[in-house]
Amino acid sequence: MPAQPALKDKHLVVGLSGGVACYKSAELVRELTRAGATVQVVMTEAATQFITPVTMQALSGRTVALSQWDSSQPNNMAHINLSRDADAIVVAPASADFIAKLAQGRADELLSLLCLARPSLTCPLLVAPAMNREMWAHPATQRNVAQVRADGATVLGPAAGDQACGEVGDGRMLEATELCDELIAFFQPKRLAGRTVLVTAGPTFEAIDPVRGITNHSSGKMGFAIARAAAEAGAKVTLVAGPVHLPTPRGVQRIDVQSAQQMLDVVLPLAGLHEVFVATAAVADWRPASITEHKIKKDGSGRPPALALVENPDILATVARLPEDQRPWCVGFAAESHDVVQHARAKLLRKGVPLIVGNIGPATFGRDDNTLVLVDAAGEQELPPGDKLDLARLLVAEIERRMSSLTLRSPEA
Ligand code: CTP
Repeated sequence: MPAQPALKDKHLVVGLSGGVACYKSAELVRELTRAGATVQVVMTEAATQFITPVTMQALSGRTVALSQWDSSQPNNMAHINLSRDADAIVVAPASADFIAKLAQGRADELLSLLCLARPSLTCPLLVAPAMNREMWAHPATQRNVAQVRADGATVLGPAAGDQACGEVGDGRMLEATELCDELIAFFQPKRLAGRTVLVTAGPTFEAIDPVRGITNHSSGKMGFAIARAAAEAGAKVTLVAGPVHLPTPRGVQRIDVQSAQQMLDVVLPLAGLHEVFVATAAVADWRPASITEHKIKKDGSGRPPALALVENPDILATVARLPEDQRPWCVGFAAESHDVVQHARAKLLRKGVPLIVGNIGPATFGRDDNTLVLVDAAGEQELPPGDKLDLARLLVAEIERRMSSLTLRSPEA
């Protein structure tokens, strides 16, 4: 099942000021429209030196606005008309000069005029700086960026890396997909603002010898989606990941581990520092009793080597049994092949956690969609089947709902 278009019903003004990064803005408009948004492009004269309005019109499906003297507007007030039905203005790229204009409240061409004239309560401003590293580091630019932030704008990036001028450093505009993700996150309700969330994800790998090991089919997608959804909801998120090939969600702090023991060693000291613990990792239940230093060779007898296994520690159960003042609110997952609810309820009791999320492991491993059933003391609740990120956002809302009812019940509240 494809993901819900995360920017459905959003209308965005994408403003381009002059910079080589204008080439990324073409892709940005595509990403935003793919995510369901409608996009009105506005370009400064300098931007038209880097990319043509024809390209941007073709990609956005709308005539690009270029001048405040546009007589095709019945009231001749493009700067008012364009921002009144916009859900946000995104200036990408925002050049050093354009940021200076914003900081000073200047309005001598359409884009800066539009930013100044926007209704700031209903039409937030986001800027994605793009410039040479010396220009970015210059105290004047830093002063202007601080001012623009203080005036309520959200600054996206910049990133560090190779620059068009051949230098390397801070000042690159974020990539189109990163900017689109930032915008999607921007519009998500900040249900977990100020909260801290710890997530485990992926499989573990239990080494037999230097070249072999025991692992499983978990892709880590569900856990990474939960980490992303929690970060989008405003939480500070730490993600402890087994061996997976997935990019780290923006704004999430990631720690990579291999084995169950390593995962436990990382999780335990962090548990007391987080309010919520979501254990999605498919932790290997057993590991070889010992790891041989060298690769195990066939001995010619035709008999496989004896492989003694020992049980791994249960990370979730260990965290759930921490003293109350060090124990986060714990959510476990139950990956089952059958009788999901029954097994999930047994795990709820066995592990001593307030919520277990059941799913059919073999049906979901590696896929982008899933079916989840929430099992807690009050009963069962099935979430509508869907994309893992959509489900992760629903789960975050459910976690927040349960946690706020806890806060309401506390005597201090
Ligand atoms: N879990 C864990 N540490 C383990 C095993 C499981 O933290 N050593 C966590 C998982 O991250 C998940 C929950 O416990 O949140 C249930 O995991 P699952 O593999 O479904 O169950 P098991 O406890 O391993 O039980 P069984 O293999 O018998 O189904």
